Amino acid sequence: MPDHVLTLQGLTKVFSTDRGPITAVDKVDFDVRGDEFFTMLGPSGCGKTTTLRMIAGLETSTAGKILFNDEDFTRFSAFRRNIGMVFQSYALFPHMTLFENAAYGLRIRGLDNDLIKKKVAEILALLGLDELAERYPADLSGGQQQRVSIARALVYEPGMLLLDEPLANLDAKLRVDMREEIRRIQKELGIMSIYVTHDQEEAMSVSDRLAVFNLGQLMQAGHPEEVYADPTSLFVADFIGKANFFPAHVTNRDGTGAKVSLNSGQELALSRLVEVRESEKADIVDGYDATLMVRPEHVEIGQPGKGEIDCHVRRIQFLGSFIRYIGKCSDATQEVIVDSPRAVPGIEEGSEASVTIHPADARLFHKGDGS
Ligand SMILES: Nc1ncnc2c1ncn2[C@@H]1O[C@H](COP(=O)(O)OP(=O)(O)OP(=O)(O)O)[C@@H](O)[C@H]1O
Ligand SMILES: [Mg+2]
Repeated sequence: MPDHVLTLQGLTKVFSTDRGPITAVDKVDFDVRGDEFFTMLGPSGCGKTTTLRMIAGLETSTAGKILFNDEDFTRFSAFRRNIGMVFQSYALFPHMTLFENAAYGLRIRGLDNDLIKKKVAEILALLGLDELAERYPADLSGGQQQRVSIARALVYEPGMLLLDEPLANLDAKLRVDMREEIRRIQKELGIMSIYVTHDQEEAMSVSDRLAVFNLGQLMQAGHPEEVYADPTSLFVADFIGKANFFPAHVTNRDGTGAKVSLNSGQELALSRLVEVRESEKADIVDGYDATLMVRPEHVEIGQPGKGEIDCHVRRIQFLGSFIRYIGKCSDATQEVIVDSPRAVPGIEEGSEASVTIHPADARLFHKGDGS
């Protein structure tokens, strides 16, 4: 299979409404290659569906370009783009059997009957639906219906698969099974896939790369572990995974690192000012007010006085493979979350404790930088 490349350059969509223009998608750039599983992630209204619809040719763009293998995609009709699309609502034809629903894309392309039978049988087998071929949508479970809509999108061998929150209507357990299934199938077929969700756990678990959106803008794109470990804005740090935020005052900026003091007066030496945007590094000078971000697994909890920052333990949650301590610290802007692989002796709900931040894993951001 040739290594296809989809490129979005400065893609913008402005809707004109009675209340004035709405910029739904704002100069978005990214590319997706080969059989990549690429996910667009972000809060409601951030422009995910609009971006997907522009790629599919269901919506025109206001500015910018969509290229497929360096060709201008916008000059192709939606039909010629040869894209399979799966929606949140399964949008199956109720009066057709599962077989006929899956065969639809081949019938409108005018394939002969024997070939249709063969291709539909293959795709139904791939999705584990072969036994149900003669059933009607009303007689299928939600998960089975979504499988049929995936079969229908894949049967004519599209060059790309677009999925807009396909699992949103399924229960939690089925969602986890189905997302693995979708990934298995897309890898088996080697088909470029763009997936939309607002569930960050779902995005992290299935994606080769993901892109976090906010207010129509692409905030950051990368491998899930990269975006989790090195978010480039407070918005992304907060949206992907759990995070603790501490107001921090820069006391001594040197070379690549900095010393910061927290509200308690506690000093921390940060060895690298990683992932602060290049343009901002110069801004971080002595006296600068910043926000320190640290993930729950990079904070330790212990007896009062043992760690750097005092805290009051409000809640302890047993979460299977780890234990989550939630406490109030006068230093932090929000509740502090500590994830520990095992229970810490002597620390109970309601007890006083202290926490220690691992400076190597902490990140410094512009104060209040949500963009
Ligand atoms: N046809 C339209 N006319 C006017 N505004 C629109 C239209 N479609 C979308 N919008 C606006 O554009 C913005 C982006 O919408 P979009 O549907 O792309 O968001 P989304 O990220 O898919 O959200 P959700 O997670 O809720 O599905 C929103 O502010 C929305 O109200
Ligand atoms: Mg949407």
